[in-house]
Amino acid sequence: MNVENGFVDVPVKAGLDLPAEIRKLKEEKNAAILAHYYTVGEIQDLADFVGDSLALARIAETLDNDIIVMCGVHFMGETVKILCPGKKVLVPDLNAGCSLADSCPADEFEKFVRSHPDHTVVSYVNTSAAVKALTDIVVTSGNAMKVVSSLPADEKIIFGPDRNLGNYINSQTGREMLLWDGACHVHEQFSLEKILELKKEHPQAKILVHPECPKPIRLVADKLGSTAVLLEYAVNDDADEFIVATESGILHEMRRRCPEKTFIPAPPNDSTCACNDCSFMKLNTLEKLYNTLVYEQPEVHVDESIIDEARKPITRMLQLS
Ligand code: 13P
Ligand code: SF4
Repeated sequence: MNVENGFVDVPVKAGLDLPAEIRKLKEEKNAAILAHYYTVGEIQDLADFVGDSLALARIAETLDNDIIVMCGVHFMGETVKILCPGKKVLVPDLNAGCSLADSCPADEFEKFVRSHPDHTVVSYVNTSAAVKALTDIVVTSGNAMKVVSSLPADEKIIFGPDRNLGNYINSQTGREMLLWDGACHVHEQFSLEKILELKKEHPQAKILVHPECPKPIRLVADKLGSTAVLLEYAVNDDADEFIVATESGILHEMRRRCPEKTFIPAPPNDSTCACNDCSFMKLNTLEKLYNTLVYEQPEVHVDESIIDEARKPITRMLQLS
């Protein structure tokens, strides 16, 4: 099957009940579907497991399915392949990249690492397999603080690629980690002004913020954390209204778990749109997921020469968190 456009570019027959067909194919092929909270609701509803990047990595390791379909972005597919090299790992669209991972090209990161040979390298999971192979410990937004805090106080650390998360950890731990200057285009875009306007309209609302956001947004947070942490907070907190400053896909699960509460997406700066979407995550569609299961394409491959090196820092993270 030709996947030169990055996905199986075959029209899906009109009138197909796609959710039913996908469920059938999943059973027939002993496939598991993993979905990140930022994918569209209809994919989250079909997935066997929905989670943040830490939870999905943990689950992937435990699966005995022959095929794992990762509905998220490319580095998430790579992480699954690195942890499960013997399985067929599929993604609906290989074009689903990540601006944060792209802000850290492996060759430039290697120069940075080599110029600080006495530093431990801690990298956020939003990186390519090649960057992971240069890393000592991988972290996610769900465990970064815990992992960094577990290292001896005098250990010199390079942290990449997210400068906002790195800054936040430095501010909380008093460390002076050397930061790679990368960022996510979605989380950098939130408008403080618009968030404060929303807060005026909804004075009782709690503000939920992902640590990939810049400091001015982090400072107005009632709760700061990974997508899973923000979700649990929304479920357990007494407030009825929440302003959510992370990718808008998470609102699907928040609304599903708390139908009686109101969730308001925080708006970005330069847009008339009320919410903030990751265009890469939104490349995962039901049609592409269906074709992926039918044709078992496109497959994620990780270079044999780096896969073992890339696994070590992920395994270390899973042991530490
Ligand atoms: P989580 O670690 O919260 O899943 O976030 C992943 C991500 O891509 C954030 O933009
Ligand atoms: Fe990457 Fe940002 Fe999209 Fe997360 S929201 S996958 S960090 S581009």
